[in-house]
Amino acid sequence: MKIIAISNQKGGTGKTSTTVNLAAALARAGKSVLLVDMDPQGSLTEYFTNPEELKVTMYNALLDGATLTPLVIGEHIQLLPSTIDLAAAEIQLPAKRNQERTLSRFLRQFVGKFDYCLLDCPPSLGVLTANALTAAHLVLVPVSTELMAERTVKLILNTIEDIKEIELNPSLKVWRILATIYDQRLAHHKEILAALRAKYGSQLYPEPVRATTKYKDAVTSGTDISDFDPKLGEFWDELAGTLIAETQEQQ
Ligand SMILES: Nc1ncnc2c1ncn2[C@@H]1O[C@H](COP(=O)(O)OP(=O)(O)OP(=O)(O)O)[C@@H](O)[C@H]1O
Ligand SMILES: [Mg+2]
Repeated sequence: MKIIAISNQKGGTGKTSTTVNLAAALARAGKSVLLVDMDPQGSLTEYFTNPEELKVTMYNALLDGATLTPLVIGEHIQLLPSTIDLAAAEIQLPAKRNQERTLSRFLRQFVGKFDYCLLDCPPSLGVLTANALTAAHLVLVPVSTELMAERTVKLILNTIEDIKEIELNPSLKVWRILATIYDQRLAHHKEILAALRAKYGSQLYPEPVRATTKYKDAVTSGTDISDFDPKLGEFWDELAGTLIAETQEQQ
């Protein structure tokens, strides 16, 4: 099971949309995917289910060692959900010994049961993100093509270096930086994309995620983008294909 953290400390950069659409594309390619909502906002969970009805969530799994059975979302996709309860983990987890490895330890039971595990991270660099970066093999960094994009990427890359240096996860790798919410009609989006490309080269995925309201429509109806626009779905099929090609021999 390859574990991929989808992380950026900045809010609204397309982390949850990337998690949903990459998972759907991996499933279309026949891969099994475990989704983990590591964000107390619970956006990923709300995408698929009514959080009010959840009795056991990632909070209970991480803080009390509770058994949490993933919810079946589709033939190849299951979800470990979260609600606002998880916000308390930012205060309570640090009191535990070896707390950064709590998620990593919890996920061990799923090794061999799924091909991929995608961790939807919160927009912060607190203990939940530290747990995700400690558990992950790879990080995918969605960055919206707005002002400050470069500074935003630099901060998450520095955090990843810190996690490696303090030996929490020495083999952690940045898989790709993914430019998101890109509007090609806007000159400043073009400039920011070019600057990211100049700075990060092949580490930046060659195609940006286009800005379109169809992503919001997909959220409202709880489906991935390919249902709204097969052409947009192809973008995610290619991203998933790249991931599969680059990870399959190590699964
Ligand atoms: N390519 C896109 N084009 C237009 N809107 C988008 C696109 N991707 C995401 N959005 C919209 O932008 C908002 C933020 O997206 P999303 O929730 O995926 O970001 P996030 O990084 O997970 O946010 P947060 O930091 O709050 O967790 C949502 O309303 C989503 O529908
Ligand atoms: Mg999100």
